[in-house]
Amino acid sequence: MDRRVFLKTVSGTLCLSAVRPWTLTFTASSAQPAAALPQLFGADYYPDQTDKSLWEEDARMMAEFGITNVRIAEFAWVLMEPSEGHYDFVWLHNAVDILHAHKIATILGTPSAAPPPWLTEKYPEVFIVSEQGMTLSPEGRRFTCPSNKLYRKLSVNIATEMAKSFANTPGIIGWQIDNEYTLGPNSRCYCKSCREGFQGWLKAKYGSLDTINKTWGTAFWGQVYSDFSQIPAPTPSGGPPNPGMALDYDRYQSHANVASMEEQLVVLRELCPNHFVTTNNVPLLADVVDAFDLYAKLDFVSHDNYPGFASIHAQGEGGNGVPLDQIAPIVALMHDAARSVKGGKPFLIMEEQSGKAGQPIFSPQPDKGQLRLWSYQAVAHGAMGINYFRWDTATFGAEQYWHGILNHDRSKSPGFDEIAQTIRELKALGPEVLQSAYGAQAALCFDYDSDWATAIQSGHPKIKYATDIGVWYGSLWAGHVGLDIVDATKDLSRYKVLFAPLMYVVSNEQAKSIREFVGGGGVFVSGFRLGVKNSASLIVKMPLPGLLRDVMGVTLIDYVPLYTEKQSVKFAGMLTGPDADCQYWADVLKTEGAEVLATYTKGDHTGQAAITSNTFGKGKAIYVGSRLEPPAIGRVLNILAATAGIRPAVEAPVGVEVAMRHYGQTDTTFVLNHTSKPQTVTLGKSYKELLAGFRLSGAITVEPYGVRVLSLA
Ligand code: GAL
Repeated sequence: MDRRVFLKTVSGTLCLSAVRPWTLTFTASSAQPAAALPQLFGADYYPDQTDKSLWEEDARMMAEFGITNVRIAEFAWVLMEPSEGHYDFVWLHNAVDILHAHKIATILGTPSAAPPPWLTEKYPEVFIVSEQGMTLSPEGRRFTCPSNKLYRKLSVNIATEMAKSFANTPGIIGWQIDNEYTLGPNSRCYCKSCREGFQGWLKAKYGSLDTINKTWGTAFWGQVYSDFSQIPAPTPSGGPPNPGMALDYDRYQSHANVASMEEQLVVLRELCPNHFVTTNNVPLLADVVDAFDLYAKLDFVSHDNYPGFASIHAQGEGGNGVPLDQIAPIVALMHDAARSVKGGKPFLIMEEQSGKAGQPIFSPQPDKGQLRLWSYQAVAHGAMGINYFRWDTATFGAEQYWHGILNHDRSKSPGFDEIAQTIRELKALGPEVLQSAYGAQAALCFDYDSDWATAIQSGHPKIKYATDIGVWYGSLWAGHVGLDIVDATKDLSRYKVLFAPLMYVVSNEQAKSIREFVGGGGVFVSGFRLGVKNSASLIVKMPLPGLLRDVMGVTLIDYVPLYTEKQSVKFAGMLTGPDADCQYWADVLKTEGAEVLATYTKGDHTGQAAITSNTFGKGKAIYVGSRLEPPAIGRVLNILAATAGIRPAVEAPVGVEVAMRHYGQTDTTFVLNHTSKPQTVTLGKSYKELLAGFRLSGAITVEPYGVRVLSLA
């Protein structure tokens, strides 16, 4: 899935359901600040694309602008290794030295996302082959196979030479490996190297062919393998692939990308022990690479944030998209993921939108205030620093219209002053805010196995994992419920509620941690299709919801994909409210001790349970058995959050985001008006406004795209 498709599917997020006024009780654990890092308010800079005569002027202007660092060289392989084994870092040292003389630090990018033409001409086996068998061409970038050993070696070679050359260069502070592993319309590869890599990976995972045959069930359609070399990649055939094999292939592709990244990491760790190392991505939860794995050994997460690009692609290729002032929940989800994949550690925005964004088509110029607002939104969700993309705007190349801080003619862009102001303000907030933790009392489960397995067998053409993640996240965002993003394999005890839409695959480990969570007093809210499959993508040989049946206190009578037939539900108990239509799916439930919170109202299943709540140990397990239409699911989820004791810090209308970071005893509350109108929020206490320095309490007005940063201190 490339970023356009991802943004399109996740855009179900935009269901801004009715919200109720609450106040906050805040109990999240305290911050673990990252090891001392310099302030990082920088720009993505391309000396490789800029006439040398301008480097000095650029560095001077950047210093005046307030920039602390740049990220450079991530596409400059051909300039650093103009022919095989011949390296030239003189130009790059010059650029770094000039920047350093102006007190601007440098993050170096390793260039494996864009190999030189000499390389692709000499080694044509390095190209990605798409699922349909098309070999990508080298005109763009991100066209190389993640498994190809030769390409991986050549990538490590250039990273090694860079590391040797820059290990002790003043001004160098860290590294970005490669660029956006999840980017690209063909982000999985099906070439010979990948097929062989897959076979080797399977051998290591399963040990024997016998185990593979049994685990996948290759007896079906006579696919029993007698040699590892017979195992194919799941490319088009006369029928869909074995689901177990297809899921393993997705896992293998993720593994291959992570492994190739880690080969470069080993070298950088050894040669540059004093530098940090990360990699960037957009969007973080695109389905090709498991972000939890990708960042496991890196120092912190960095990701790229383009709300304008997200807006034009969120609903339909090149269509009207989602209005910029409604893109906030999608962006918030990406930030929450960035913070969560390393357990809450502050993250870096490696690239932040600075103006109009796009390639062949581009977004409008953000309205006045939006660039600043988006920076604060990133910080509110856990960013410790921001690099703006890009310093200047290219007059050539595929991104001629991706607007930077300077215009094409090097004059100030429309966002120039606003970004400079934002950098000044954020620097003044200081490390206590920028390095602090985020205060989520609830978590949303994002699990790659369920994501991939749902894509392999969605059960209904309209069902997409990313969409349901977006719908649930967006509904809770509208209700000001702060969320961590977790895969539910670890201790969940710090949360009051775990929301899990479409947890189609449930592993033994996940079942155990959810059982402990609920037993210990947590509230688990599951969507439809819970626990249908195990980790091998086999359907569980037990009544559904499988491993969690006793926790949920229900058994599925049937599961019903909905096409032209209609279904709706009548609510009861704490969910009492207007009836709601079901979309695409209905799990029909029989209670085994659970209370019924909604029943179906149509056809054979009239009167049977659709939503249930079960007491298990000290906690509750709620099964939302149907995919409710978006306003209704929002109402249900926010009632469940409120009932579990989750209250936002301030009363705010929909469209105004409330997020909280905390450090020790200090809380910082961000109030972000994503709408183009002034909005009134009500503060239950007296706060110090950290940007303006005065105190605020009661009803206050937040101007269009305005920001308030509040501290109780
Ligand atoms: C990012 C990418 C950059 C640049 C930017 C604008 O995704 O890392 O290299 O392409 O988008 O398109």
